Amino acid sequence: MCGIVGYIGERNCVPILINGLKRLEYRGYDSAGIGIIDNNKSIVVKNKGKVSLLEDKLEELNLYSNIGIGHTRWATHGIPNELNAHPHANEDNTIFLIHNGIIENYQVLKKGLINFGYKFKSETDSEVLVHLIDNFIKKGYDLTTSVQLALSEVEGTYGLAIVYSKEPDKIIAARKGSPLVVGIGDNENFIASDVSAILAHTKQVIYLEDGEIAVIKKDSFNATTVHNDEIEKEIHEITMTLDEIDRGGYAHFMLKEIMEQPETLRNSLRGRIIDDEGSSVLGGLTDVVNKLVNSKRIIITACGTSWHAGLVGEYMFEQFCRIPTEVEYASEFRYRNPIIEKDDAIFFISQSGETADTLAALKEAKMKGALVLGICNAVGSSIARETNAGVYTHAGPEIGVASTKAFTSQLTVLALITLLIARRKSLSRIDGKQIADELRLLPEKIEKILTLNDQIEVIAEEFKNSTNFLYLGRGYNFPVALEGALKLKEISYIHAEGYPAAEMKHGPIALIDENMPVVFIAPKDSTYEKIISNIQEVKARGGRTIAIASEDDNDIDQLVDYSIKIPNTIRMLTPILTVIPLQLLAYHIAVKKGLNVDQPRNLAKSVTVE
Ligand code: F6R
Repeated sequence: MCGIVGYIGERNCVPILINGLKRLEYRGYDSAGIGIIDNNKSIVVKNKGKVSLLEDKLEELNLYSNIGIGHTRWATHGIPNELNAHPHANEDNTIFLIHNGIIENYQVLKKGLINFGYKFKSETDSEVLVHLIDNFIKKGYDLTTSVQLALSEVEGTYGLAIVYSKEPDKIIAARKGSPLVVGIGDNENFIASDVSAILAHTKQVIYLEDGEIAVIKKDSFNATTVHNDEIEKEIHEITMTLDEIDRGGYAHFMLKEIMEQPETLRNSLRGRIIDDEGSSVLGGLTDVVNKLVNSKRIIITACGTSWHAGLVGEYMFEQFCRIPTEVEYASEFRYRNPIIEKDDAIFFISQSGETADTLAALKEAKMKGALVLGICNAVGSSIARETNAGVYTHAGPEIGVASTKAFTSQLTVLALITLLIARRKSLSRIDGKQIADELRLLPEKIEKILTLNDQIEVIAEEFKNSTNFLYLGRGYNFPVALEGALKLKEISYIHAEGYPAAEMKHGPIALIDENMPVVFIAPKDSTYEKIISNIQEVKARGGRTIAIASEDDNDIDQLVDYSIKIPNTIRMLTPILTVIPLQLLAYHIAVKKGLNVDQPRNLAKSVTVE
């Protein structure tokens, strides 16, 4: 998704902007550009494709400037090309800006501006903003007032950075629905859509909130509303290091993040289990725990992988907390006028904390008076800040577009929340203790599964040319079947579907032949016998089979073509183990197909537009 970085200070901004944009590459983009002021003249350089191409272009131009902004674009309005790339400039090249988000009323605004004689160069919604601001400047307003006046006419979402060559001492930034953070340095300041872009320079940051406009000079910062009311802002210290963001010696971020899971799980669990009581303590939920325990219904809302985590959460909450639970796609929830009662608690699960649909669903639920709770990975993200309370997953930055460690940490947090609620209801201390003990053992068990990496690579070699896959699981492992299929399709571009295993006979069985590999998630639990019958049905039709099975299950080897054996745990926690071989399988197949694992085509890490 689009990225923003900006600099004002005493150093040459060009390398700072380029390095910042490289840090944002992981979000996914299709074009890149920067704008600077050199001797009171605006210079905009942009291109379709990679930041490295932009860097080559800039090297030839040998530019120097103390103020500039840079952007990576992920196309929404208009194809990826140089004209549609940001920054966008006004006609006399004095104002340029970069924009994340979508201007919903851009067509109306554009019509009006064309009537005033403005000419548009791009197909983007963003370009209206620069002409709208120009229109106010031409009426005699300064840049800050012009931005405030322009934004009061705009409907939609934006993270914006604007520079004007006639006021070269400032960058104006504005936020509504798209994240922006200001970095505070020594005689220099920064702006970015994601702290990783500026972390090499400062750890002191100010998060802009929706509706805020910031004037950033090299030695000062102030924030106002669109109506020019002053806003006091607090400076936060970032604890994340750049090392955390690097690949750490692995070929891809995705592999690093899969391998990190023993550690990320320890981080998700740290300080949160009360062994004696067989319960958990979650600081972020302390103020709402009674309301949560007494809630009549829980709704879990999320997108993609986080939605799959929600499905597992539904099984946990209903089995142990005995609270009716529903799981909703955020994109559906936000538009269907959901019925929300006063005793409902609604969880919003999001790795990035910035997913547009989840954020919009959250705002809808909040407006209807629900108790809104977050399960987020990105600290200080919009969802984390908008919710009444919540729990951080502490998985650390996830850079690979395909979510892996964030998923297992979400499941871990859902299990901790289950303990928190269930122990205050009907779960006994002994049963709570068993869950707590099993949670503690998970990191070691994951370490064991990760030693199967080579075996899984061999299986990947065998199946890398398949064009379809079916994933089947039951109970707690039905969502894992969905997640395994999603992992495979998003990075290997192989069509894959996940189903509850018993549903196979209601349709998908027609697809089974020797060209259809079927992955069964078949740990020894109460549904084991039934899944064995499903395996037999597939074998009888010539399908090739892979099973994720329990380490003490010797029988299954006679039945399937390949088995991947994992340690046993209690049923509710099996998804945290069964998903790991599926992550590795998808990873190795994609690598063997020579694909860009960390930045798959058409995908973005953080989907901040609808
Ligand atoms: C899949 C994946 C996506 C995200 C989804 C929600 O690997 O990463 O399906 O899970 O876009 O993102 P978050 O969790 O950031 O809200």
